Amino acid sequence: STAPLTFAVHRNANPMPEAERVEAFRNLGFGTLFSDHMAIIDWHADRGWHSPRITARAPFQIDPAGSVLHYAQEIFEGMKAYRDVNGRIVLFRPDENAKRFNASARRMAMPELPEADFLAAIEQLLAVDAAWIPEAEGASLYLRPFMFASEAFLGVRPSREYIFSVIASPVGPYFKGGAKPISIWVSQNYTRAAQGGTGAAKCGGNYAGSLAAQAEASANGCDQVVFLDAAERNWVEELGGMNIFFVMADGSIVTPPLGTILPGITRKSVITLAQDAGIAIEERPYSFAEWQADAQSGRLTEVFVCGTAAVMASVGTVKSAEGSFQIGNGTGGPVTDRLRNTLIGIQRGAIPDPHGWVRVI
Ligand code: COI
Repeated sequence: STAPLTFAVHRNANPMPEAERVEAFRNLGFGTLFSDHMAIIDWHADRGWHSPRITARAPFQIDPAGSVLHYAQEIFEGMKAYRDVNGRIVLFRPDENAKRFNASARRMAMPELPEADFLAAIEQLLAVDAAWIPEAEGASLYLRPFMFASEAFLGVRPSREYIFSVIASPVGPYFKGGAKPISIWVSQNYTRAAQGGTGAAKCGGNYAGSLAAQAEASANGCDQVVFLDAAERNWVEELGGMNIFFVMADGSIVTPPLGTILPGITRKSVITLAQDAGIAIEERPYSFAEWQADAQSGRLTEVFVCGTAAVMASVGTVKSAEGSFQIGNGTGGPVTDRLRNTLIGIQRGAIPDPHGWVRVI
């Protein structure tokens, strides 16, 4: 059936007192504080999607044989709800998250969730947790839709049961350094994804696989890791949780093509905004050798990374086992600033939204 699901709403009997929430909002990090409620929809092979509900946020009960715990059938999304300059609650391109969620589901042999139900779960959660949307500049309510295999079964085949859920976390800036350019470590030991693999799916396993490389980045004093392609260890792919862009002295921009990387919604939006601004932007393979040579020659003037959580951040320093180099003078640059201001301006409703990206809830 294609009729949209109707959510039962069971309010949390013990919500966080307002004074406590206001206090917690004074010092927002990323992903440590959670709202009072969660959305849940169950799926069973014999019944399809059923029992849509909003409940108090609480631990799941999962059988020790629950297949996600063994074979990692799990996918997720990241999106932000926030108040625009007129005080309305808005989402940025939520239909894109719904579509990508289903693309991830297909890759991981999981059931697709109708887009209307994905969006309804988010809207219903926001309806009960609207007070959890922080209003400080740059802050938002980060939404984490996810789905995992819950059947108790140790055979290796797709689970016959899944739980879809959405939780919400009030967040401040992703990087503690604020607007300060980040440093990135080029991983030459680890790769993230190969052709035919799961690199384009937003599955937990991709992030698990990035952690040892991220730890190596941290051990080398860097904020983030950037991966090279698995076949040749030559082409720049993406960071642990962000896409990457290269700005040239002639004003053109290069970003790695889709295939083995996560098809970022911020990435896609930045490409459109660059095109709108008349900037020549190319999606093409860019090698680590080119990157080093272009930084050295001055042909490369800015590098930035982007994602839902991170928004847009400049890269100041690049480090690898071979040594380190700076991008420009290491402080970011005007192209990054301009694109970032346009993106944030559209998101916050401060400037017109020519593509209809912002959805009022
Ligand atoms: C996001 O940007 O929303 C992500 O899911 C990436 C993660 C590093 C937080």
